[in-house]
Amino acid sequence: MDTTTFEAKHTINGPMHTSLRHDSAHKHVTGTAEYIDDIPEPAGTLHAALGMADRAHAEILSIDLTAVRAAPGVVDVITAADIPGINDVASTGQHDEPLLATDKVEFHGQPIFVVIGETREHARRAARLAKIEYRDLPHWTDIDSALANDAPLVVKPMTLKRGEPETEIEKAPLRVQGQMYIGGQEHFYLESQIAMAIPGEDEDILVWSSTQHPSEVQHMVAHVLGCANNAVEVKTRRMGGGFGGKETQGNLFACLAAVAAKKLNRAVKFRPDRDEDMAVTGKRHDFRVDYDLAFDEEGRIHAVDATFAARCGFSADLSGPVTDRALFHADSSYFYPHVHLTSKPLKTHTCSNTAFRGFGGPQGMVGGERFIEEIAYVVGKDPLDIRKLNFYGQPGSGRTLTPYHQEVEDNIILKLVEELEASSDYRARRQAIIEFNENSPVIRKGIALTPVKFGISFTMTAYNQAGALVHIYQDGSIHLNHGGTEMGQGLYTKVAQVVADTFNVDIDRVKITATTTGKVPNTSATAASSGSDLNGMAAYDAARQIKERLIDFACRQWKVEKEQVEFLANRVRVGEDEVPFDTLVRAAYYDRVQLSAAGFYKTPKIHWDRAAGKGRPFYYFAYGAACSEVSIDTLTGEYLVDRTDILHDVGKSLNPAIDIGQVEGAFVQGMGWLTTEELWWDTKGRLRTHAPSTYKIPLASDRPKIFNVKLAEWSENKEATIGRSKAVGEPPFMLGISVLEALSMAVASIADYTVCPRLDAPATPERVLMAVERLKAM
Ligand code: MTE
Ligand code: MOS
Repeated sequence: MDTTTFEAKHTINGPMHTSLRHDSAHKHVTGTAEYIDDIPEPAGTLHAALGMADRAHAEILSIDLTAVRAAPGVVDVITAADIPGINDVASTGQHDEPLLATDKVEFHGQPIFVVIGETREHARRAARLAKIEYRDLPHWTDIDSALANDAPLVVKPMTLKRGEPETEIEKAPLRVQGQMYIGGQEHFYLESQIAMAIPGEDEDILVWSSTQHPSEVQHMVAHVLGCANNAVEVKTRRMGGGFGGKETQGNLFACLAAVAAKKLNRAVKFRPDRDEDMAVTGKRHDFRVDYDLAFDEEGRIHAVDATFAARCGFSADLSGPVTDRALFHADSSYFYPHVHLTSKPLKTHTCSNTAFRGFGGPQGMVGGERFIEEIAYVVGKDPLDIRKLNFYGQPGSGRTLTPYHQEVEDNIILKLVEELEASSDYRARRQAIIEFNENSPVIRKGIALTPVKFGISFTMTAYNQAGALVHIYQDGSIHLNHGGTEMGQGLYTKVAQVVADTFNVDIDRVKITATTTGKVPNTSATAASSGSDLNGMAAYDAARQIKERLIDFACRQWKVEKEQVEFLANRVRVGEDEVPFDTLVRAAYYDRVQLSAAGFYKTPKIHWDRAAGKGRPFYYFAYGAACSEVSIDTLTGEYLVDRTDILHDVGKSLNPAIDIGQVEGAFVQGMGWLTTEELWWDTKGRLRTHAPSTYKIPLASDRPKIFNVKLAEWSENKEATIGRSKAVGEPPFMLGISVLEALSMAVASIADYTVCPRLDAPATPERVLMAVERLKAM
């Protein structure tokens, strides 16, 4: 469709841009929202449990499942031999991810067999009775040991280069080299992975899957069953959180449920226990950044050279695009005149790391903000001044080109940061904190104001397309379906707002229906924050087509011109008459007007050449800024976030209430990643932080004591997105970096702000304490 005509064809006066509640908010809190585990089970439904490897890297010598099969309540045990199609669920097409291991295992927890029992409890108990003989092979689980072992890369690395970094680094007046570790993160969606497969006649199968990517689950199930895509239907009404963890990681459970269901001709439900889910599924990639920075006495960056090495796990999964996105965001909001960035996607004997809110971008940006900190401590200035000195400039300034050769055309970062600097009273508070620290032997405070600039679009150009299907029934009620999935982020509500707005009817008239591959095919994952940009436009395209047919019909029937037809609230003015919307619809039906339409959208302007490291991977940027203040206890390392102020850019918000919820949730999740959430694998390669007992996500009581969150109401997307809005799902996650930087300042006070504390992430109380001790010893 022509995206530039949205405003021209459409007056925005309906429910778009208003704070409607999330369509399921009341159902979430009253327990009436239906998740897959709540769907009434077909008669005879069986339950699955995984048999998992207890070695990090080993040859399988023999598998004895006699005791498993003989256990009470066991109906069958599925191994790789039962897979009728191809034993592979690699989303990349690289065939490096077997559904079930056969002759070797490559991580502790890798699935080898599946027990199908009358109940989940039967299946789980039996799964422990297998006798598997292994021959151990050498393994490595973290970045340092991967590098020491010359580990292979799971995908080709990427390099971004501009200017003459080699010579400029030598020439610059000042130079710093350093290293930073940035930890991974468990998604901790409240609803674990789940799938329910219901066999049909011939090759048919229906799979309910908690997935962000129903089309991929459809294709994977077909691939594993050896049938055509058209035999498989995948449905998803909602997820209890996805956060990227259900972009590819649902494939395994859906495929295993499907294999068992087809073999036994009974419905099979697969809901792993939390421990199983955490041991088997991939997480956010942790990174090691090695950097070499060149700058001048003022603090202006001349050149940056950095390598981003990542723990990818045993297979590629999404590690290619994740490590690419880390490089795309290693500039944070700063112009690097000369730059060289490389990724190292390392193979490790751990679960295969995957998408997680920001998709590598946050790790890149944490690196970029560390660069600023390093420079600030060398030149002895407030890091905010170094930030402002190095921000991208406005068009024409000669400071707009990114390391990937895309121009930053929509830069509002300085305006945002200065507005927040004033509203949060940053300067006076920083001065007060410095004075407080001088007189406080145990408690120290820190404050930091950090920017966010996040590129919107899938870097894989083909994924930037979407479809939608809209029907109007004879009573004027509207049925809406699109390729996006709902994981709590409010996408269904926003897209329904777009449709209601197009017809100027109440939102209640629009029925939001479960995403299904049967209605809208070949969809992309709901990811990269682009759900509302893509599906909102596709749904608008569908609704617009029906609206134009209704207008044509009204012109014929009433013998008026197009200009005389106007969609008022729940009614339509035709010439001198006013007709209720449903009356017009019914009349159109009797005149044989088609009241159904499929819509389509593809993002314009974008292109990307990975080998050359050049192009325009992003349609636009979303911006934000956060200012956080913390207090640390220098005797224990414990800390509190005293206050956070946020100003975030969502363009012209489609739904300010939902967007503020996204900003708050993303900030807290980002803060958790950088503070208390720590993943720990032991020397055997076993994940020891596999439950809430050992893995600490933020509690309500960990939120900032004062928390002021605002949207930049003056912002509008310069590009012709739906209603001039901007994507909101991921960008505010990186506002959490302000907490890490504030902790760093509090630690730096120990050495009178003369040394960069080089605080790694997550800055757990233990790490903060060690950093304090390190500075005390200096
Ligand atoms: N918000 C909630 N409540 N639950 C989620 O799982 N996922 C995030 C974000 N916000 C998530 C969320 C991630 S990783 C992405 S990419 C976007 O939502 C996806 O949805 P959108 O494109 O519709 O914003
Ligand atoms: Mo979000 S990590 O792109 O699912």
